[in-house]
Amino acid sequence: MLRRPRVALVAAVVGLCLSMAGSAGAQTPAGPSPRVRDLLGRMTLDEKIGQLNQIPGGRQRALNSRLDAAALDRVRRGEIGSFLHVAGAAQLRELQRMAVEESRLGVPLLFGMDVVHGYKTLFPVPLALAASWDPALMEQTARVAAVEATAAGLNWTFSPMVDIARDPRWGRVVEGAGEDPYLGSVLATAQVRGYQGTSLADPTSILATAKHFVGYGAAEGGRDYDSADITDRTLHEVYLPPFHAAAKAGAGSMMTAFNDIGGVPLTAHPALVRGVLRDRWGYDGLIVSDWNAIPELLNHGIAATPQAAGALALRGGVDMDMAGNLYSAQLKGAVEADSALLPMLDQAVIAVLTAKERLGLFDAPYGRTDPAREAAAMLTPEHRAVAREAARRSIVLLKNDGGLLPLAASVRRIAVIGALAEDANSSLGSWRAQGKVEDVRPLLPALREALPQATLTYAQGYRPEAAQAIAVTASGEGAQAVVEISDADALAEAVAVVRASDLVLLVVGEHFDRSGEARSYTDIGLSAAQDALAAAVLDTGKPVVVLLMNGRPLAIPELAERAPAILETWFLGVESGPAIADVLTGRVSPGGRLPISFPRASGAAPLTYAHLPTGRPAAEDLVRDTARYRDQPITPLFAFGHGLSYASFDYSDLRLSTTEVAADGSVEVSVTVRNVSDVAADEVVQLYVRDPVAAVSRPVQELRGFRRVAFVPGEAKRVRFTLTPAQVAFWDPDGWRIQTGEIQVMVGASSADIRARAAFTITSEGVSDIPAAAIATPSSEEPVA
Ligand code: NOJ
Repeated sequence: MLRRPRVALVAAVVGLCLSMAGSAGAQTPAGPSPRVRDLLGRMTLDEKIGQLNQIPGGRQRALNSRLDAAALDRVRRGEIGSFLHVAGAAQLRELQRMAVEESRLGVPLLFGMDVVHGYKTLFPVPLALAASWDPALMEQTARVAAVEATAAGLNWTFSPMVDIARDPRWGRVVEGAGEDPYLGSVLATAQVRGYQGTSLADPTSILATAKHFVGYGAAEGGRDYDSADITDRTLHEVYLPPFHAAAKAGAGSMMTAFNDIGGVPLTAHPALVRGVLRDRWGYDGLIVSDWNAIPELLNHGIAATPQAAGALALRGGVDMDMAGNLYSAQLKGAVEADSALLPMLDQAVIAVLTAKERLGLFDAPYGRTDPAREAAAMLTPEHRAVAREAARRSIVLLKNDGGLLPLAASVRRIAVIGALAEDANSSLGSWRAQGKVEDVRPLLPALREALPQATLTYAQGYRPEAAQAIAVTASGEGAQAVVEISDADALAEAVAVVRASDLVLLVVGEHFDRSGEARSYTDIGLSAAQDALAAAVLDTGKPVVVLLMNGRPLAIPELAERAPAILETWFLGVESGPAIADVLTGRVSPGGRLPISFPRASGAAPLTYAHLPTGRPAAEDLVRDTARYRDQPITPLFAFGHGLSYASFDYSDLRLSTTEVAADGSVEVSVTVRNVSDVAADEVVQLYVRDPVAAVSRPVQELRGFRRVAFVPGEAKRVRFTLTPAQVAFWDPDGWRIQTGEIQVMVGASSADIRARAAFTITSEGVSDIPAAAIATPSSEEPVA
């Protein structure tokens, strides 16, 4: 494990020495283990290249479908190091047996899949889980995913996606933890721990992949795969920290990103992959390309031939070729043409073999391929219970005028409007592994069960229809789009149902397939059909609770203005319906908080609460020329960290343990939070900092601590955070610089709801070697009178 951040009082940056948490057979500073060294020494060039070759054994929705005779022969010949899109204990046992017993050297295979938010028990989509602000919960969901996936023979997941996303036009915001590098780092750590457990060699542990290294979320215009044109500072302060946190947590693999930064694709980026990740951070895990990304170096225009592309990727530090078939076809020629590539090839093979060793595959190749365990492991009542808890904790109450929620017991006639209310398919979100629609408990039946005293009447209000295949996923499968059609009859029926009700639950948002890979949109509002429906429902004057279902922030200013209550329910997985019902009925008070800002308009993206002040900070007054849009207020629609509760909380007595701290010291920030209501509820206490004067302009706010705290009615707790100056350091090519001067501290219920402020002074200069946002802030809570 990495130790605490090293703060030097002299300007020297010492490379970090990472080690794999609890892993067997870890590489030591002395290099690979004796077994790996021995194997390497006995391998032919072809066998080495075979280890670097990952091929699809099936398709995302047709697992194992490509395991034909030719593929099996390649296994026997040692030409394959890993399969993806495969699963099933019996099938993978047989495949593993071929590799172990029928190939010359008996090297076991890695079996990978995108197990992203559950395997069979589907949890909320990652952005929703991040809204729980609950690292322990994310660790638990990742653990369940690991238990189920490994029972099905898998030993490698391409998760967590730790890309920071500040542009909701980018469809993959759904897969990550949102806009903030501190929150992202804490949650990345939790997920890696959950996937990998205490020992990677445990048969219920799965190799985690932090992806996509790096800058993928900064795609220009929010267009998936597009270039990221970001400064070194932004790269180091915003996009790299969660990767550092994942590395420090022992993530066994990393995936390079499709995009380029400043013209250099990450698939062939020696400065970042070898320079930062390997050398500076000391990362010794397995680095895999993204799907077909090595051949795509030709499209990037940095390689004229496939052979040159292979050489570039290897030089860039990519160990394994995912689905590109390029290393296997070209590396031999490349190495023969340039023997300087040979040591790099050996390094790549060492990384693959070491990952296999850490997973315990040499000693127990069939540890994860037990059909009896597979039969018993899936969607157990315990796993469903975790899914229900996760879904409840991910829900965010965005607005609740007049305390419309929770639903009063006296409400008898409820109209449920909008096709998403019965869309079990959308509840699963993107990357659903083996999640099945029939295992989802959707909203409508769950509501009927939870509200037996009420009459529920349902109307769609518009027609969702499957359109022609318009898109192709990364694995080459056609995807169906859903178009929503305004239909006068459907609308009239919905309005009639609304008129005959006392209260309306209006379920709108996006079909799940609008967010995810290659799902970038310029318009992130509601569809025209849903807009028309919402307007018609609101025009009736009935009390309306909006239930949003979506995978990205939506620009819905009118809805936010007109609807008295809005509940953000994302795509919540198999327990979606009951969890939403729990919150609507008040069995559970909503405690989720937004991990990403909601813009007022599509044209306001990208955006973040952690922006720089600029020379002309945005001002309300339009007479002044300031950094703002003239046609929108200066605030987001809903701010980062925002989320209401059925309870109310009072913050008081913010104290710092000291107001002067040396560069290598620490300061304790404590505050009393009291539940001043008669409702049991969670509050997410958030700690932000600002360096008001530094050598470079610093963000107006940066999250540096949080704690989700449970309160019974009337209860008060003292919540403590321990901050170090290294956490407010700014990036500099020579190290993370800690400067003397004032640091402002803000504590509150969201980035836009600061309840108390204080300040301390850093009294000496220093240099730290860890990205500031990747340093976790210890916190604690204790009851007070
Ligand atoms: C492409 C995606 O970018 C990546 O996240 C995923 O892991 C691979 N395809 C494999 O499915």
